[in-house]
Amino acid sequence: MPLTHTRDLFAKALKGKYALGAFNVNNMELLQAIVEACEEEKAPLILQISKGARQYANPVYLKKLIEAAVSLSNIPIAVHLDHGDTFELCKQCIDEGFTSVMIDGSHLPMDKNIELTKKVVDYAHKHNSSVEGELGKLVGAQHDDGEASGGFSRSGVYTNPDEAVQFVKQTGADSLAVAIGNSHGAYKFKGEQHLDLERLKAIKKALMDAGLGDFPLVLHGASSVPKDLVKEINQYGGKLGEDTAGVPEPDIEIARRTGVTKVNIDTDLRLALTAGIRKVFAESPKDFDPRKYLSPARTRVKELVVHKVKNVLCCAGHAFD
Ligand code: G3H
Ligand code: 13P
Ligand code: ZN
Repeated sequence: MPLTHTRDLFAKALKGKYALGAFNVNNMELLQAIVEACEEEKAPLILQISKGARQYANPVYLKKLIEAAVSLSNIPIAVHLDHGDTFELCKQCIDEGFTSVMIDGSHLPMDKNIELTKKVVDYAHKHNSSVEGELGKLVGAQHDDGEASGGFSRSGVYTNPDEAVQFVKQTGADSLAVAIGNSHGAYKFKGEQHLDLERLKAIKKALMDAGLGDFPLVLHGASSVPKDLVKEINQYGGKLGEDTAGVPEPDIEIARRTGVTKVNIDTDLRLALTAGIRKVFAESPKDFDPRKYLSPARTRVKELVVHKVKNVLCCAGHAFD
């Protein structure tokens, strides 16, 4: 089966009111685990590759591994560049056949972010690829400047609904990554913090009211950092802090129902793989065949992805919609 376009996956997901899992891939075991899980659950899939993944595995290896996965499976699979940081990297990925790319200009002033994103959009659209832009900064759950007044401040840390409209209109981006208190990694929140789901609703509504329709929104940093995985890693010699915290799964479900269509997950995959490897190292210290520790670790990742697509994203069963 050839690669699927994210455009088609988004259209079906919006119609079916489910979210797509965008899972990060760095090596063969992660790829096999993710694809096998989605194949088993009949879930459409976005595989995403970061600049760091390309540096780690070599783009050619990743491309060939994904070709193998696609040829061995029946589910629709899209390949996406995660956090592209330059026009040149986005162009390279589009030229290699990625069905979508992210250009992350979120650290730039709004006008420069728009300029860079538009440049990528212009190239991508000429070459049958889609673009995810980002507005707002993924620095975690902290109050945005000016929120005390009850409004949504402009050019702040969190995404402002009116600026989201301006950004999408002026760039022509196909999807938008929002900053609503989300952040990357295993230490997202302190105490009982949550995503700013009211802001998410306001962004969705502003885009709708501006005539941009049911516009696909993207949630980065969507790992839940399960406590049992952290506990297991530490039980077998890891030293993750007591203060690990992810996005509670109920928040992800509300985000999905509010119109988040693409949910980015990497940290949870890393935790599952690490827990699996550490367990074998601790329980069978004499083993040194990588297959002995990588295959149970791969199974742990697969189980995690099955859980996400079935119980959190609700995209299981939608591969052939
Ligand atoms: O959002 C970042 C992803 O988790 C990718 O991480 O840049 O370490 O590959 P990475
Ligand atoms: P996590 O760190 O929550 O897994 O987020 C991954 C991500 O946003 C990739 O772009
Ligand atoms: Zn991200």
